Formats: sequence, structure tokens, C-alpha cells
Amino acid sequence: MSTQTSPHGLIYMSGLGNQFSTEAIPGALPEGRNSPQRAPHGLFAELLSGAAFTAPRVENRRTWMYHVLPSAMHDAYRKIEQPAWESGPFGEVDTPANRFRWDPWPAPTAPTDFLDGIVTIAGNGSPEAQSGISAHVYRANASMTNRYLLNADGEMLIVPQLGRLTIRTELGVLGLAPGEIAVVPRGLHFAVDLDDGEASGYIAENCGAPFRLPELGPIGSNGLANHRDFLTPVAAYEDGPRDVKIVRKFLGKFWEGMQNHSPLNVVAWHGNLAPYKYDLARFMAIGTISFDHPGPSIYTVLTSPSTVPGTANCDFVIFPPRWLVAEDTFRPPWFHRNVMSELMGLVYGVYDAKAEGFVPGGVSLHNCMMPHGPDATTFDKASSAELKPHKVDNALAFMFESCHVFKLTRRSLEAVNRQLAYDTVWDGFAVPKV
Ligand SMILES: [Fe+2]
Repeated sequence: MSTQTSPHGLIYMSGLGNQFSTEAIPGALPEGRNSPQRAPHGLFAELLSGAAFTAPRVENRRTWMYHVLPSAMHDAYRKIEQPAWESGPFGEVDTPANRFRWDPWPAPTAPTDFLDGIVTIAGNGSPEAQSGISAHVYRANASMTNRYLLNADGEMLIVPQLGRLTIRTELGVLGLAPGEIAVVPRGLHFAVDLDDGEASGYIAENCGAPFRLPELGPIGSNGLANHRDFLTPVAAYEDGPRDVKIVRKFLGKFWEGMQNHSPLNVVAWHGNLAPYKYDLARFMAIGTISFDHPGPSIYTVLTSPSTVPGTANCDFVIFPPRWLVAEDTFRPPWFHRNVMSELMGLVYGVYDAKAEGFVPGGVSLHNCMMPHGPDATTFDKASSAELKPHKVDNALAFMFESCHVFKLTRRSLEAVNRQLAYDTVWDGFAVPKV
């Protein structure tokens, strides 16, 4: 394990799923035992379990936290409404057997923080079943001031598209910019500040098994995302009395409580359940050096496995800048129908399978067995191009791919920014002379 400092002065520990130890005050971390009769400095020991106690060691995730005050010290929560953030089981509307694409969601005009700015596009599974994911976008113009979120339903993979974020968590502070991702574990208090006054991006809310690095198989021990490039914050805490609100998401509903101190009062912690960030520019892309296409699984950054071997509850896949060198090959993604369902977003640039219409901040959805692929313009260009080595540059697209079909929300089906003529993307192919 090593530490490194970001340009913002934030200090991180490197690695994913490591057993980290960190203290904001020297001597705050107990030595030799997790719950001594009296913890150093009179702190309160609390365990955060992210796996069943009896989960295999390789799957087990837990962290011991040493709080200024126990997080149990609060009154009863009351129900509040967050209508745009929806959870499974989905099914308010029938999901049509069609392809879908949306322009970016409009920026808010009223003050809107990260929590209020979340809009659900589609999802599967449910928090109660502890499986599936929900795909959201967020658009915000205000920081979460004296307001914190605890999501008991799932971990949150955040993909910024516009604007830098400062994510304050119980276990430390993450600085996040477009081109990076962060994952906040289920059940951890956190708040999001906007460094640039406005922000938008994407979220995969994962109710299933936590994200982890994919197996590498014949690739060997080097490639794709490297373990050491994942960064976890060192301990940092908010002290002193203050009136704050905490919003809990639980079984798809929202509950609010008040207390007179920040929930981010962990002075020291140790364990392997922690938030982390990753710079997608660190991803080592692998592709063909002969002909034809590997499956897009070759671009998997993180995976949440289902109970079926090799079949993901959610793969987080990116299409980063990379060289294309394949001989006698149609280089953009070919036409295909997949049993897996594909929800895509674009952080910046132009995606190589579409000439136009798929723009940064937008979303496309190609569900189980829905035919899709290049549009006619892309087809004509790519099937007649001289096949010199070519770099796909200045573009970063990603995909949440799931073995569960994405069901639409009414809000996304009826959204004014949905492209109602998306199917015409595949008009205009000429019948070959055979
Ligand atoms: Fe696809």
C-alpha cells in the first residue's frame, strides 16, 4: 500500500479491497484489537459490514470505524418524497421492444443538489431482492450543505460527465473530475459538493454483489484496470455541533432525520470496505492485433457478478481512446443482438458507432435481443475506409451491461428529451446486388 496526494491536497491510499488503516489524529486507531473496552480518545467503535459475516474471505468486506459519536444516536426518521429517484421492482409502464436514446436531461433552474438532481432512467432487480441495478443521471447546481445521504439499497458508481465533485464520506474525501469514476459503498454516509457550480453525470446504483475487478483469464496478470490505480481516501472528519439532515434510501423509499452533529465523524478506521476512485485514463485497453472483434467484455473496468458464473449483474465497460489496427475488418461495433442488456452513456467526444445523435450527457438503451449496430453513414464510411492504423481519440463512452433487462420508468419513457425517431438511425441501408 502507498499513499499519494492529489493536486487538491487530498491524500489517498492505493489499491482496491486492501486492508487499509488510517487515522486523522495520531493514536486514534486502537492497536491489536478492534473494540477495546475504551477506544483511544473516548471514540466509539462501530463495525460496517458489507458482506455476510460468513462470506468467503475473498468476498468479505468490513470496516471498523472510530466515531466521535455513535451513528445510532438519532431520533426516528420520517418519510419524504424523492419522486425522480426510482427503484425496483420496475414495471409502472410496459417497456417496449424498441431501441431508445435520449438527449441530455435539461439542467435544473431552481437550486438542486446532487440528491435532488438524480433522475432514474431504467433499472432491474430490486433493493429487496438485493440484485439488479438502477441507471440514473444527475444534474445539480448546488452542494449538499448540512445534508447527507445513506443509501441502504446499493452501492453507487458515479460517472461525472460535467463538473468536478468533492465527495465527503464517513471514511474520507474524494475529489472527482470527468474522466474519473467513484464508488461509494452501500450504507456509508456521504455528501456531494460541486466544485464548479454545476455538475451532471451518470450513476449505476448496484443492489447486487459489490463491484470488483474482473478476472483476467488468458490475458494474464497485466491489463485492463490495474489494482494499484484505485484510490481510497485517508480518514477525515467533521467535528463540532451543527444541525444536519440525513436522508436514508431504504427499500426504494426515502426517510429523513435530523441530528446536531455531522455523521462524518469518523476519526480513524481500518478495513477493506471503503469508497474509492479511479481515473479511466489509467485503463490499459486491449484489442485485436489481427482481425475481427473481441467481445466488449475486453473493456470491463469493474464487474458485479450474478449468481450465474461468468454472467454479470452489471459490468461497467468503457470505450476509451485506443488504436484500431485490425485487417480486413469492419472496425466499429457490428450489428448484434445480445442476451445481455446494454445501457450506454458518453462522457465526451463522438462514439465511433454513430455518426450523430449520441451526445455527451445522453443515454442509449439496447435491451435483450433488440437489434442494433452502426448507422448507415457509419456503415458506408467504415466499410470503404482504407484500413490504416487509426486512433479513436478524444472520446470516452461507457456501458452498464446487465444480465437483467432494463425496464423503463414512466419518466424516461415520456421524457421530452427522448429521441422519438431513434429507429430511423437504421434507415437507408441499400439492398446489395447479388
Ligand atoms: Fe451493443
